[in-house]
Amino acid sequence: MTSSVSLTDALLVPQDVQDLLFREARTANSFSAEPVSDEQLQAIYDLVKWAPTSMNTQPLRALVVRTPEGKERLLPHMSEGNRAKTASAPVTVVLAADTDFHENLPKTFPHKPDAKDLFVGSEEGREGFARLNSLLQVGYFIIGVRAAGLAAGPMTGFDSAGIDGEFFAGNKWKSLVVVNVGKPGDNPWFGRLPRLDYDEVVETV
Ligand SMILES: Cc1cc2nc3c(=O)[nH]c(=O)nc-3n(C[C@H](O)[C@H](O)[C@H](O)COP(=O)(O)O)c2cc1C
Repeated sequence: MTSSVSLTDALLVPQDVQDLLFREARTANSFSAEPVSDEQLQAIYDLVKWAPTSMNTQPLRALVVRTPEGKERLLPHMSEGNRAKTASAPVTVVLAADTDFHENLPKTFPHKPDAKDLFVGSEEGREGFARLNSLLQVGYFIIGVRAAGLAAGPMTGFDSAGIDGEFFAGNKWKSLVVVNVGKPGDNPWFGRLPRLDYDEVVETV
């Protein structure tokens, strides 16, 4: 038994699930025309909504771009290298942080009725808080896409002010990561890049 097999066995979820979510999951750079349904997107959200955020704030918001008109509005704001793959994806999700997340605290943190007041009047503080927790939720979303048997193509190569002006002028959403979602198309992968080993990234005291 190699050490990687025994490490695999040290985990509770079966190896095929480990592979689906991590080892064999790849970042797709092209997509087939096979559609992604609203039901699939709802199922992904319904799973990943249970992952944790600080004070249960859940600041992540999502804009689902699936129509040709929506894509036409989005594509000019993507960096040049990200345009073709974004055009090819059946669905592109703009993931954003809502800096007005505190408005939901009476519902999401009901045992502390004054929780919302901690955030009133400090938009800058709220923005940092929203970004941190939304980025955590972006990671959960990517794994949720994989759990649905789909490929995700996350991108930060875009003009966030441009996207916010185009789509979020009427709210306090700030775009963070744009994710293409679908089945991989032709020649979808770049070469697999090396990952750092445990000993390179962990210190124990
Ligand atoms: C937050 C984030 C932003 C990324 N931005 C881009 C991007 O703008 N353009 C791009 O082609 N790839 C982008 N990537 C893809 C990464 O380069 C890719 O996920 C990484 O190299 C791992 O590839 P693999 O999953 O195929 O092993 C991004 C990935 C993440 C998680």
